[in-house]
Amino acid sequence: MPEDLPELIGWQLEEAKRRLASLGRHVEVKQTSSPRHKPRGRLRVIRQRAGQNGSVELTVAAHPEISPTRKEQAPDAGSSLQTSIRIPDADEAEQDLISRIDPARVPKHVAIIMDGNGRWAKERGLPRIMGHHAGRESVRSVVKDAPDLGIQSLTLYAFSAENWRRPSAEVVDLMELMAGALHEELPELKRQGVALRTLGRPERLPEKVREEFQHAYEETKDNRRLFLNIALNYSGRWEILDAAKRLAERVKSGELAVEDIDEEHLASMLYLPDTPDPDLLIRTSGEHRISNYLLWQIAYTEIYVTPVLWPDFRRIHLLEAVLDYQQRKRRFGAVNSSPGS
Ligand code: FPP
Repeated sequence: MPEDLPELIGWQLEEAKRRLASLGRHVEVKQTSSPRHKPRGRLRVIRQRAGQNGSVELTVAAHPEISPTRKEQAPDAGSSLQTSIRIPDADEAEQDLISRIDPARVPKHVAIIMDGNGRWAKERGLPRIMGHHAGRESVRSVVKDAPDLGIQSLTLYAFSAENWRRPSAEVVDLMELMAGALHEELPELKRQGVALRTLGRPERLPEKVREEFQHAYEETKDNRRLFLNIALNYSGRWEILDAAKRLAERVKSGELAVEDIDEEHLASMLYLPDTPDPDLLIRTSGEHRISNYLLWQIAYTEIYVTPVLWPDFRRIHLLEAVLDYQQRKRRFGAVNSSPGS
């Protein structure tokens, strides 16, 4: 985006249009739903990019409060830009980093590959599952701090499709840990205004895990302070495959013509279609790999790799990641753009 443009993701369409008109910019609007399924209610901006001849292309989706189906959910960013960051219990080192963060350019959506639990446990002579238990504390820490920083969506890679290949005892322990943690943390998640969702194929997950996540989804679905997305039995390739199959079904039923299929159509078939693409992807424990995570969504995401093992990841590390992100020049394939916008 050129430097004179504000970030409009999360804004109501009418408000965004007014703002762009006042800046003398022409607007092109795209809707994620097919024209046959006209969304009801207010529309919000979920993507923003440069259009042709200096225009601005906005992709919009229906507001979840009015269209409450899971498919139509869009993060409610509110219409005002954040102007300050307040974390009352921050220590001196954290406060120093906070003072250097520009509140208007905090990444709205952060995805995390939580890696290094096994190594953390091994270093201490503990069984691997103890690393996952310790990693739960790091989850609690980022979930608490993310909304204070202005992060609106957090997508955590908790269990990949490939993780079934681990020893069965570790898989069973991990499933129990997740179901138990969710059960125990639910009241706190509700208190913090967190909306919890999952992405992945639920079929193979133990019933207890599915029930706990479904219950947490129902109990938190009206919250808007933070969208916490947990990737469970997730594979980026499966997500694209599943989207392609759903598109093919629409073509087969005559709802959609092959020549009309574009990127927005495919994106609208992803597991959480109206969640904006991640601005920042953090991977802990030093590996420079994507590991089949959010393959479609990370096309223009900034990647930050830290050597810190996930169980050691705390507020200071999240602040470092956000500051590093703000040093980047996001270009989205173009020439002119402002850092971190
Ligand atoms: C990767 O570390 C981590 C995982 C496969 C599991 C992450 C899950 C948690 C932290 C629990 C989260 C709980 C909830 C409710 C979301 P690894 O075991 O691959 O580490 P290694 O590479 O050092 O072996």
